[in-house]
Amino acid sequence: MHQILVADAISADGLQPLLEYENAILIEKKVTDPGVDLKNIEALLVRSATKVTEELLEEMPNLKIIARAGVGVDNIDVNAATRRGIIVVNAPDGNTISTAEHTFAMMASLMRKIPQAHQSVKNLEWKRNAFVGQELFGKSLGIVGLGRIGTELAKRAKAFGMNIYVYDPFLTKERAQQLKVERCTLDEVLRQADIITVHTPLTPETRGLIDAEAIKKTKQGVLFLNCARGGIIDEQALAEYIGNGHVGGAALDVFAVEPPGEHPLLKYDNVIVTPHLGASTKEAQLNVATQVAKEVRTYFEDKPVSNS
Ligand code: NAD
Ligand code: MLT
Repeated sequence: MHQILVADAISADGLQPLLEYENAILIEKKVTDPGVDLKNIEALLVRSATKVTEELLEEMPNLKIIARAGVGVDNIDVNAATRRGIIVVNAPDGNTISTAEHTFAMMASLMRKIPQAHQSVKNLEWKRNAFVGQELFGKSLGIVGLGRIGTELAKRAKAFGMNIYVYDPFLTKERAQQLKVERCTLDEVLRQADIITVHTPLTPETRGLIDAEAIKKTKQGVLFLNCARGGIIDEQALAEYIGNGHVGGAALDVFAVEPPGEHPLLKYDNVIVTPHLGASTKEAQLNVATQVAKEVRTYFEDKPVSNS
């Protein structure tokens, strides 16, 4: 019997392909829970909470496959896994629409100050002049990283009459024309955009991609969105430029350390936040869980996996 550890909260309905598999036992526990027999685990299913480090892999000598129920594998030491012959699979497109919709909702909320106005009315105030917003129509949206989520966001922003400027070193001229977006350098995006959103993976190249020097090049009043990964936008630099009034606000779903605890960005009224909810919809969670459950079962049935 293959022992499969489901270490993070993963949709139970999506795990059906594994629950129906007679050669597997599913154990729903954290890797740190007492009594978890890590030595005999052959498959590990995680979201972003479990950090799959080299030290953890050392405790799991029988591990054969790690499945990430989501896109980003930055919580997994993929090199260490590969060195041990462990396959890493993810669910690359199950949460694309949810995350693009969440980013769009954050952008609209930031422009119309909806969270702040909501809180004010709940505090029994009625301050109509305090919450004058801005239209999305006609504004320039800078997208850094035009992959699956960036593309879906661009389509929605176009439908709202926004102009889209993209920096993505892998974006071809043909694809940009097809999507009706303008292909730019990072500097061009920084200088032209009213709103800048990042949708790259977190890698050594993208960590701190938007740092103080980059923010200095932006328009006065620019807004930033980060629904990708904490650390792509340097948080200290962002806090500094919000504090000095150059940046007009930010909408953040992710932080370099989660939960962020006492954080300089949280003190600003023009910073709106959610607790890493981009993919938190019923649909996305069912999609990603089903995708990885099928992959793990496929692997144990000795068939080739697709998203490794
Ligand atoms: P994707 O792989 O489809 O797209 C990533 C894009 O980034 C690609 O087009 C790639 O060319 C581009 N890119 C890579 N390096 C770059 C660089 N240095 N500069 C500019 N562009 C660069 O991934 P996706 O599905 O669109 O997801 C993007 C990221 O969003 C994921 O890696 C994940 O970390 C994050 N994410 C967050 C949530 C959430 O809950 N908030 C949900 C899903 C994904
Ligand atoms: C992802 O990379 O897919 C996201 O972080 C979503 C998640 O796992 O909640």
